[in-house]
Amino acid sequence: MSERGAVKVLHVVGARPNFMKVAPVMRGMAAREGRFEQRLVHTGQHYDAAMSQVFFDELGITPPDDNLEVGSGSHAAQTAEIMLRFEPVIEAFRPDWLVVVGDVNSTMAATLVAAKIGVRTAHVEAGLRSFDRGMPEEINRLVTDALADLLLTPSPDADLNLRNEGVPESRIRQVGNVMIDTLAANLERARERQAPRRFGLEPRRYVYVTLHRPSNVDTQESLAAIASCLLDVSRRAPVVFPVHPRTRQRLHDFGLLESLASAASVKLIEPVGYLDSIGLAEAAACVLTDSGGLQEETTFLRVPCLTLRPNTERPITISEGSNRLTTLRALRDDLDLALARRAAGEAFPCPALWDGKASERVADALLSA
Ligand code: UD1
Repeated sequence: MSERGAVKVLHVVGARPNFMKVAPVMRGMAAREGRFEQRLVHTGQHYDAAMSQVFFDELGITPPDDNLEVGSGSHAAQTAEIMLRFEPVIEAFRPDWLVVVGDVNSTMAATLVAAKIGVRTAHVEAGLRSFDRGMPEEINRLVTDALADLLLTPSPDADLNLRNEGVPESRIRQVGNVMIDTLAANLERARERQAPRRFGLEPRRYVYVTLHRPSNVDTQESLAAIASCLLDVSRRAPVVFPVHPRTRQRLHDFGLLESLASAASVKLIEPVGYLDSIGLAEAAACVLTDSGGLQEETTFLRVPCLTLRPNTERPITISEGSNRLTTLRALRDDLDLALARRAAGEAFPCPALWDGKASERVADALLSA
């Protein structure tokens, strides 16, 4: 507790998908006036303006109190560097709670540090499992949830995963999806920017693509197959593809950038900010992605989503949403189906508690823990 009796919270973010989650959580706590004293640490895992600063600007996130500037590296190097640089920061602030979001290396590294020095951790977006330990994020989720004291989950499947791992009920609270808080609050602003028109796209006629998972983009064989598949897709509908730095580097390394960039119906663009991503997703005929966040955003927006992965840690976006797993082999047929579902205006469902109020429940959970 602070001198004035407020709960001291240290938030840690590091990579792009963290920013739209921390924004509403910090706002939800600030709205409970005098109840929280908050501090924000950016590890610097993502550092390009287009991967980081634009989200702070668009979402009105207060500038971080500390930036650890760890930058890129191997998983071990990056994780170790975050731990080394984070330890003195958390020691100095001595929060009542560390609050971490999502499943990136920064999430896990900060949690490890807090656990070792006896600071309680709350994990927002706990309990998601792809059951695929080949994904770095799955390792991060397992470690973070094993160590965190309060597991704030987005959906009932996450609760079940935690129970199956033997987590006591007292540590689990289903709060809903904080990312949807951000989406609901910013949808109008996103529409006003008219991203499709600015990129020369006709609403409901194009496919919005994002791909950056190591399993898709890090081998020549896989990325070459994806590139040829995208050319195939673009013969049926224009493709807009904001390219993640990792993906751009690999396309370049494997000699695939030229052919894709010169295709008439493929728009390779720089990574877009939050508002334009939402604008492009909402007006798309279909989204093709390997992102976790877009699976959820398209579910809320009721836009058909094809996830180019063998599994998802967000199965609820399939059972109660507009998502579907696909493969390069099945993509042609799956795309036809998705375009037809969109044209027919199919009414997709949306999970409970994805209602724009999850962050209020996060704040309440911390006050009552
Ligand atoms: C990370 C997360 C992933 C998330 C993704 C969103 C982990 C393990 N992975 O993956 O879950 O979906 O962020 O983007 O935490 N780079 C830049 N500029 C930057 C950041 C990265 O050029 O601002 C390049 C570097 O070459 C770097 C590479 O991208 O080596 C990968 O970055 P890294 O943070 O290691 O992982 P992501 O692939 O971005």
